[in-house]
Amino acid sequence: MSDEARLLSLRSQFPTLAKKTHLISHSLGAMPRRARDHVGAFLDQWEDDSIEAWSKHWLPMAETVGDLIAQVLGVPAGTVAVNQNVSTVQAMIASCFDFTAPRNRVVYTDMNFSTVDYVWQEQRRRGADVVVVPSDGVNAPMEALLAAIDERTLLVPVSHVMFRSSGVKDVRAIVSKAHAVGALVVLDTYQSAGTIPLALHDWDVDMACGGSVKWASGGPGCAYWYVNPKLRETLRPANTGWFGHARPFAFEPGPVTYADNRWRLFGGTPAIPALYSAKAGWELLVEAGVESIRKKSLRQTALLRELVRERGFKVNTPEKDAERGGTICFDFDGADVVSKALLAQDMLHDYRPRCGIRASPHYYTTDEELVRFVEAVDRARKA
Ligand SMILES: Cc1ncc(COP(=O)(O)O)c(C=O)c1O
Repeated sequence: MSDEARLLSLRSQFPTLAKKTHLISHSLGAMPRRARDHVGAFLDQWEDDSIEAWSKHWLPMAETVGDLIAQVLGVPAGTVAVNQNVSTVQAMIASCFDFTAPRNRVVYTDMNFSTVDYVWQEQRRRGADVVVVPSDGVNAPMEALLAAIDERTLLVPVSHVMFRSSGVKDVRAIVSKAHAVGALVVLDTYQSAGTIPLALHDWDVDMACGGSVKWASGGPGCAYWYVNPKLRETLRPANTGWFGHARPFAFEPGPVTYADNRWRLFGGTPAIPALYSAKAGWELLVEAGVESIRKKSLRQTALLRELVRERGFKVNTPEKDAERGGTICFDFDGADVVSKALLAQDMLHDYRPRCGIRASPHYYTTDEELVRFVEAVDRARKA
């Protein structure tokens, strides 16, 4: 069996694929069949073990899922904490720092996801000097970004793969420049984990975060926060909670004594049911293997790009393999209207202003689905 055939044999694990043309994994991964079993196990534990479920199952599950995610990020076990969403994680990261000049700069590009931009812009009121480097809306403005990172820079919170164009930033170049001037890199890997092989430990990335909803097929409520072990004990999130305490069940009066392991990053009670659905998706990603996923994705995004180019559409995703993530973004007059018509036919994709239609093959996507999708675009344009 070829490697692609092996990946496609996993289609049977995703009942949704028999019902819809699913090219929306950059926004919502297809539901794995086993998510229902895992969430069912959570309910059984609640019913059968009651209060003992916390120690027997639920808190260990936070570590199990963190360690599964660690495999995809290319970081050691024990270094990934889970939380509800990226916005919360970014706010917790911001709460670890004080923005006193002269090192009070936060540098990123205008291709960050909106929620991340919102969190950092609000740090201005705490003294942050926020520098947003403009881009052409498609490509990573690498030269300008690297030039903006200087001795005044404290943090560089950037997306690895940019949600609007699926362009990829050069992580090693960013880390190298940031470390040369004493700044830390916070990499948002939401759009890259599961599509691009990651080696965040080898790349010496300081922190990373993302979630389970998209390429990981894990459902909502399970975001992650990786911190390089050499940095972890210097972090004292002001947004904290009792699970960040070294002895949460001693209920000691404050101030908090931070745990000396990943739990110092947790805050309050983890969203336990979300861990169970997330586990299903991350397990399948690990089984599929991100190297294999990437190979298939590069071939299929090139195929989709050719299909839309043949029709004269504008492609808003970088051309080169190394600069392209898992999505093809394309635009034409009336794309917003066509998008609505396709959604009505269960051709799942999305439309974003200043980007156009976003469509993504994933490891479970066939070439026929891509062809069917562009043929549906043709029909909708004529209608
Ligand atoms: C790159 C990126 N970061 C963050 C988010 C979302 O953040 P949150 O988990 O806070 O909803 C998204 C998309 O939803 C995204 O594409």
